[in-house]
Amino acid sequence: YEAFVARKREHILRALDDACQATGLSGLDDFELEHEALPDIDLDEVTLASRLLGQPAPTPFYVAGMTAGHPDAAKINRLLARACERRGWAMGVGSQRRQLSATRADAELDQWAQLRAEAPALVLFGNIGLSQIIGTPIHYLQDLVTSIRAQALAVHLNPLQECMQPEGTPQFRGGRAALQALCAELGVPVVLKETGCGFSARTLRSLEGIGLAAVDVSGLGGTHWGRIEGARAANTPGAGMQAQAAETFRNWGVSTAQSVIHARSTLPRVECWASGGVRSGLDAAKLIALGAERVGYARPALEAALAGEEVLDRWMAQQEHELRIALFCSGCIDPASLRLRHAAMMANTYFTWRRHSRERGNPEGFCFSK
Ligand code: FNR
Repeated sequence: YEAFVARKREHILRALDDACQATGLSGLDDFELEHEALPDIDLDEVTLASRLLGQPAPTPFYVAGMTAGHPDAAKINRLLARACERRGWAMGVGSQRRQLSATRADAELDQWAQLRAEAPALVLFGNIGLSQIIGTPIHYLQDLVTSIRAQALAVHLNPLQECMQPEGTPQFRGGRAALQALCAELGVPVVLKETGCGFSARTLRSLEGIGLAAVDVSGLGGTHWGRIEGARAANTPGAGMQAQAAETFRNWGVSTAQSVIHARSTLPRVECWASGGVRSGLDAAKLIALGAERVGYARPALEAALAGEEVLDRWMAQQEHELRIALFCSGCIDPASLRLRHAAMMANTYFTWRRHSRERGNPEGFCFSK
């Protein structure tokens, strides 16, 4: 247990280190939203109201799952939960893997009861890794959901991290079938998420019809687990090969922008949530314009939470404010209008956003191959 707690602490510290962020690779700097000089609305008419898994939601934001199962996690999660409930954001918890082993389960249940007592109306997502659902009877997974009274269960994919991590479980065989069974039998919607390496169109196509309610693309551009595990390996005697591999794969993944484009074109009926390197309300607006229904932050939320409740609240208000400005200056009254406007443009093959690469010799703007 001590080794587990030490590892989770190190993950948090490393995630806060800029060297473990794939900054500049999210693809979002390649796009600009088109400025509307004459929006036919007032700023105070702009609303962030949106929908989440078919229900109305006050904002399109969520804090992506990060932590669970150790003493620091309980504190961080409660802080995030209170703030998210207050501001109308949804929230995911980190991997509940330890709850599957009975030894620590009671301590976990206490923590969740406390969290739920403080944030009873929060829309909350459970979390478990793909390797852990393979071969696990559904009722154990249902218990994870029940323990936190979750509105959905997120199943995370992290093949790169599993390869890099000395304690990793890179066993994914049978995962797709296990996922399909889970979608069919679990009492709440299932969300499939990456953890910072995104989704290709091929992967998403292979998921068609298995019953997912949403895909959280968690693309390349923010927290990168190859880099985090590489930094850990570099300080571990005898892990030279892992450290070298982590260096080789430091930019591995599909960018967040590209992942959203893939999700929209391959799984139009599955909700698309975007996370991975989202660092401002403007980033969020760009992802909504690309087709995302919901936008999530992990590392920046963690950083703000560690600075205290007030800093966290101010940081959240900042994201909302910036998204509102982006909507107003695009002439859109709510996130759905921005998403639908750009969906119509995308149908014309040529995206009308100006692309920075124009300077690099692409006067046509961004071209979507069909
Ligand atoms: C994570 N993430 C994560 N995801 C998951 O599904 N289960 C988990 O247990 C964790 N643990 C975790 C810990 C820490 C400290 C961080 C920063 C992140 C991944 C997270 O949900 C998200 O997909 C990525 O971090 C990308 O978002 P950012 O950090 O670039 O905003």
